[in-house]
Amino acid sequence: MSRKVLVIGSGGREHALVRQLAASPRQPQLFAAPGNPGTAEFAANMDLDPADADAVTAFCRQEGIDLVVVGPEDPLIAGLADHLRREDIAVFGPGAMGARLEGDKEFAKEVLVAAGVATAHFHAFSSTDAALKHLDKMDLPVVVKAVGAAQGKGVAVCSNRDEAEAHIRLCLDDQQFGQSGLRILLEDCLFGPELSVLIVTDGQDYCLLAPSRDHKRIGEQDTGPNTGGMGAFAPVELPADLHQEIDTRIVLPVLAELRRRDIPYRGVLYAGLMLTDQGPSVLEFNCRFGDPETQVVLPLLKNDLLDLCTATAEGALGAYLQGLRRTAEGAPAGWPGADLTDWKRSAVVVVGAADGYPGHYTKGKTVELPTAGEDDRWVIHAGTARKDEVLVTSGGRVLGAVGTGGDLEAARGAAYGLLDGTHFEGLTFRRDIAAAGKEDKGEKA
Ligand SMILES: Nc1ncnc2c1ncn2[C@@H]1O[C@H](COP(=O)(O)OP(=O)(O)O)[C@@H](O)[C@H]1O
Ligand SMILES: [Mg+2]
Repeated sequence: MSRKVLVIGSGGREHALVRQLAASPRQPQLFAAPGNPGTAEFAANMDLDPADADAVTAFCRQEGIDLVVVGPEDPLIAGLADHLRREDIAVFGPGAMGARLEGDKEFAKEVLVAAGVATAHFHAFSSTDAALKHLDKMDLPVVVKAVGAAQGKGVAVCSNRDEAEAHIRLCLDDQQFGQSGLRILLEDCLFGPELSVLIVTDGQDYCLLAPSRDHKRIGEQDTGPNTGGMGAFAPVELPADLHQEIDTRIVLPVLAELRRRDIPYRGVLYAGLMLTDQGPSVLEFNCRFGDPETQVVLPLLKNDLLDLCTATAEGALGAYLQGLRRTAEGAPAGWPGADLTDWKRSAVVVVGAADGYPGHYTKGKTVELPTAGEDDRWVIHAGTARKDEVLVTSGGRVLGAVGTGGDLEAARGAAYGLLDGTHFEGLTFRRDIAAAGKEDKGEKA
């Protein structure tokens, strides 16, 4: 009997998830809530609000859904996974306790410190006066973070005192981020390339997907304001001993600390790392797949994503991983679950954004996509909609051009080739995604 799977969310990450699940030999019947025109190619889009846990649960019972994969952080932080599990529905995604690692940066620091894992030195404040007083004692640059979820806008890396004071006041006085910014962290600034590590865990066992890197700034050469991500590539080539170091100094102690605190976790724990001269340091956790990292990590999977998600959701990841064939040619040593990834291939995603993003931009522009035909490249929908059968822009990050190949350069060529055939008024994209390849020094702080 074919399995019924519901993917929650409506962005590029969810299109990538649905696309990969659709490739499963088990031929699952797919639903997306609410989905987008990209997910609609593989799944039935359901008009359901991910914030409405009762409605999602009722739909799952009525339809007999076997597995729910939750894409975005907001429903996870709000406890959607707990709600579904109480009804005995298998969920890929942590409950509210685990999702707090993303939803509360002060809590994440507490876990990191207890686990003895490297992270930037910090202090937490609720009062502007106390924060400003402490600021005077800190070296510049300094990092100011709203502790709660703020759609990627709560963090400012400040090169001078005025900028830092302005962001402190934005959070605490102007309450620009609502509840999320009523408490802040003042953090030491770290330097080095960044790395995204996706840990798939059922709370007992775990595996690591291909290391990836996103490009956060809007402008080429990593200039201008931060965005949700303008592109990404995988795998990132790392010095050989770093794989083992990430596993033993970060992943293992963090998962052990979660178990020690009786925090169940079934889903992806995304560790955002900075590779400093002193070793890898954790910048933040996310409680879900990264966007756009997912778009490049999933195509490198050699194994069925549906089986991986099902085993994780059912707490049977250990048995699943033991059953994998050991064929990981070129796989790095010390990277648990390396067998899952095809290390002989690379993937690149270049985001096509609307002119003006991440500031003000217009929606409703007609989108023309390249004609399909080649299987090493495809378009992922992120901010598109159908209006009277016409595909139009409906967000700042409109789409992602994904290319794959035998090396990074081939994957890059495929991704950029797709953009040649993509048109909408105001289309902008960075031309330097994955350009530096091995020599990539990552994002500047
Ligand atoms: N301690 C730090 N030192 C240097 N840069 C940092 C530091 N913390 C965060 N950053 C930069 O800010 C970005 C956003 O911070 P992050 O903690 O990931 O918050 P969020 O993704 O929730 O906005 C990071 O990707 C990194 O580029
Ligand atoms: Mg981040």
